[in-house]
Amino acid sequence: MTKEHIDREHSLILAIETSCDETSVAVVKDGNEVLSSVIASQIETHKAFGGVVPEVASRKHVENISLIMEQAIAEAGIEKKDLSAIAVTQGPGLVGALLVGVMAAKSLALSLDKPLIGTHHIAGHIYANRFVGELNYPCMALVVSGGHTELVYMKDEGSFELIGRTRDDAVGEAYDKVARALGFPYPGGPHVDKMALEAEEAVPLPRVWLEPESYDFSFSGLKSAVLNVVNQSKMRGETVRTDAIARGFQESVVEVLVEKAVRAMKQYDARQLLLCGGVAANRGLRQALTERCERERITLSIPPFQYCTDNGAMIAAAAHLKWKQQSFTPLDMKADPQFPLKEWAEG
Ligand code: KG4
Ligand code: ZN
Repeated sequence: MTKEHIDREHSLILAIETSCDETSVAVVKDGNEVLSSVIASQIETHKAFGGVVPEVASRKHVENISLIMEQAIAEAGIEKKDLSAIAVTQGPGLVGALLVGVMAAKSLALSLDKPLIGTHHIAGHIYANRFVGELNYPCMALVVSGGHTELVYMKDEGSFELIGRTRDDAVGEAYDKVARALGFPYPGGPHVDKMALEAEEAVPLPRVWLEPESYDFSFSGLKSAVLNVVNQSKMRGETVRTDAIARGFQESVVEVLVEKAVRAMKQYDARQLLLCGGVAANRGLRQALTERCERERITLSIPPFQYCTDNGAMIAAAAHLKWKQQSFTPLDMKADPQFPLKEWAEG
């Protein structure tokens, strides 16, 4: 087929995501219609260690990837020959884990003679919002995951300007560490969320705003404040008020995220706010952001729960941008654990 005959609006992309502890493969049509989405979580394996062990994650990806790929193709009800391209998370992420997905994607692309699309993990989280509806540019993305906390301004489709980021812990990381101190298993975010919503009181904890103009975040001080409260209670022989601490922590995190996102929306005159990343599954955050955006008349988009945490479908949604440009990745591409978003966008 010559380039002129390629339909750039329509695509059938198989995407692989193995950047951390989920082995996931999805088949997505035209960047927004999920035909299949298979996600094999390794949570049970890593629970015993209290967090993700990179070597174990890579081994589990190797064990699962072929089967998950076959399952995604079968559930989508498509023929491999009909695929437009094979997409894969190129980075950022754990290098050994990324490599498994990258090798699988290269083999499939080579054997089917299909183009390869190396994709950025955060672009994937952001474009998970395509499963909700069309995006309205310029927009602002609030990315909250286990590895990232960022405000990204998007003037047009596929353009990304990082206007704020965490200076220490990512918000999901802070959730997981606080959860551990409160005695919850990995990953602790959902447990803290549940506890916080059920709590009747909140332990007062600090809000970290940084400099008045800054869109950066910092969560390590808040995490230390939580650990202090826990340790002091233990030293005094008192019961640790797990629920009130969880609520105090969540209120602090949510207030800062909501406030900075709303301020950024106004300053940049953005038309839509996109929430995304694993912590976008947090019910407290979803609720507070929804209410505030309604009051401020801000259009807010939040992906369905299953597309907030890591998944292959979001990688296909972002890869569709590259399909539209017919911009493909050479087969000698390398996984990049520190992949900059701008490099992917401009590459
Ligand atoms: O996006 P993700 O699946 O992986 C990364 O790219 O990092 O995010 C995982 C993070 C974990 O830290 C997990 O605790 C957090 O998302 N998370 C939550 C909730 N669900 C997942 N944090 C707070 N509340 C939740 N309901
Ligand atoms: Zn992620």
